[in-house]
Amino acid sequence: MQFRNLVIAGIGAAVLTSCTQASTRRDVSISRGKTVYAKECAQCHGARGEGGGPASLGLGLPPPDLVGLRARNDGYFPREFVRRFVLGLLETDDPMAAMPEFGTTGFRHVYPDGGFEGKGVEADLEALLDYLETVQE
Ligand code: HEC
Repeated sequence: MQFRNLVIAGIGAAVLTSCTQASTRRDVSISRGKTVYAKECAQCHGARGEGGGPASLGLGLPPPDLVGLRARNDGYFPREFVRRFVLGLLETDDPMAAMPEFGTTGFRHVYPDGGFEGKGVEADLEALLDYLETVQE
C-alpha cells in the first residue's frame, strides 16, 4: 500500500516537473518572440500590434492590427496563415503594400550581421507566433 502511494506520488511529481519545464520553455519562446516582433514588425504593425506603426505612412495599404487576428478568424488564432504570410508564401491584397517577404529577406534586424539562414530563423518564427498568440484581444 505504502509502495503504491510512493509510486503515485512519484508519477505526480514527474508530471508536475514536466509541466513546469514545458511552461518555462514556452515563456522563453514568448519573450524571444516579443524581441523578434519589436525588431521586425513593430515599425509597421505598431508597438503592441495595434496597427499603424511609424513606418506605415506612405505604404499602399495600412498595415492591419495583429491583435485582432483571432477575433477576425472566428475566435481561432490563424497560426498557419500568419506563418505563411510572414514567409511571403501567400498572395497579398496589394502587391505594392510593402510587407517584406521574410522567407526571402530573413530577420535582418534581428541578425544585422547576416547568418539568419536555417534553424535559428525557424525557432524565431515559432517564437514570434507564440508571442502573437498571447497578444490577441
Ligand atoms: C514595411 C511594413 C511592414 C512590416 C515590417 C511588417 N508588415 Fe505585416 N503587413 C504590412 C502591410 C502593408 C500589410 C497588409 C498587406 C496585405 O494585406 O496585402 C501586412 C499584413 C500582415 C498580415 C496579414 C494580416 C491580415 O489580417 O490579413 C500579417 C499576419 C502580418 N502582416 C504580420 C507581420 C509580422 C508578424 C511582421 C514581422 C515579422 C510583419 N507583418 C512586418 C506591412 C508590414
